[in-house]
Amino acid sequence: MKGIILAGGKGTRLYPITKAVSKQLLPIFDKPMIYYPISILMLASIKDILIISSPEAIDSYKTLFGNGSQLGINIEYAIQKEARGLADAFIIGEKFISNDRVCLILGDNIFYGPNMTQMLKDAMLHEDGAVIFGYAVKNPVEFGVVEFDKNGNVLSLEEKPEHPKSDYAIPGLYFYDNNVVTIAKNVKPSSRGEIEITSINEEYLKNNKLYVSIMGRGMTWLDTGTPSGMIKASEFVQTIQERQGFYISCIEEIAWRRGFIDTEQLLKLGIDLEKTDYGQYLISLAKEGKK
Ligand code: DAU
Repeated sequence: MKGIILAGGKGTRLYPITKAVSKQLLPIFDKPMIYYPISILMLASIKDILIISSPEAIDSYKTLFGNGSQLGINIEYAIQKEARGLADAFIIGEKFISNDRVCLILGDNIFYGPNMTQMLKDAMLHEDGAVIFGYAVKNPVEFGVVEFDKNGNVLSLEEKPEHPKSDYAIPGLYFYDNNVVTIAKNVKPSSRGEIEITSINEEYLKNNKLYVSIMGRGMTWLDTGTPSGMIKASEFVQTIQERQGFYISCIEEIAWRRGFIDTEQLLKLGIDLEKTDYGQYLISLAKEGKK
C-alpha cells in the first residue's frame, strides 16, 4: 500500500502565521505538524510515501525529510499548483500509486490513541473499496459528516453541512483501492469550487463499497485549524510526553520499532539532535534497547 500526505493549501485561516511558512511545518509542541500524519503512515507500515505541497513550500519538505532513507522509508514529492481540493491528491499521485492501494492522510490531522495500530491494520484488511472513519465531535458543521441508520449502516455523507444529520465527523485519514484514481478524475467541483474527498466517498457508498469505522472515545483526533487549536494540540502532546516519558509521533522511534532502521542508525539520528530533549530521547531509546 502507498501513502500520500497532502500538505498544500495556503493556510489562509492562520494568516499572518502562514503567509511565509507552510502550515504543516508549524510546530505542534516539539516537532513539525507533518510529523504527526507521517507517523500514522509509518505505524501502518507504509514505507512508500508521497508528500504533496505547494510550489513555494515543497523544498522545505525536501529539506526536512530528504528521500526518507535515514528513516528506512522512501519519500517522494509532488507539487500541487493550486488548492483544487483533496481529491486532487489521487490525480497528482496517479503515477506514484500505480496499480497499488493507497492511504491518504491530511498533513494537518493529528491522531493519538491506544488502538491506533490495530485500527490501521483492520482498515488495511479491506482489499476492495474504501475505509473511512467516524469521530464524534461537538462542531460537525466544520467537517465531512457521516449519517448512520439504527443498525450502523451509512445513510449519507455530506461536506460541511449547515444542518448536520449526525455528530460524526470524517477525519482526514482514508484508505482506498486502486479505483480511487479513476473516481477522482471524474469528480465534479463542488459549490465551493473544490473536488471534494466527500464526492469520492459518495461514489464508493453508491457502489456499496464504503466501510466506516468508528473511532471510539479513547481515540484523540485534534484540530489544528486555528491558533488556539494549535496551542491546545501542543499542550496535549506536552502533557502526555512529560507525564509518561513516551513521545507522541516520534518518527525516528517508530522507524526503529518497526525495524525500518537499526539501533546504530537511531543513535546517529539522536546524536544529530543531541542539544534537544528530542535528541536525548532518541539516544536513551538506543541505549536502553527495545523493551
Ligand atoms: O480534517 C478533516 C476534514 O478535512 C474532513 O472532515 C473534510 O471532509 C475534508 O474536506 C477536509 O476539510 P477541511 O476544511 O479541513 O479541508 P481543508 O481545505 O482545510 O484542507 C485540509 C488540508 O489539506 C489542509 O492542511 C490543506 C490541505 N490541502 C487542502 C486542499 C483543499 C491541500 O494540500 N490541497 C488542497 O487542494
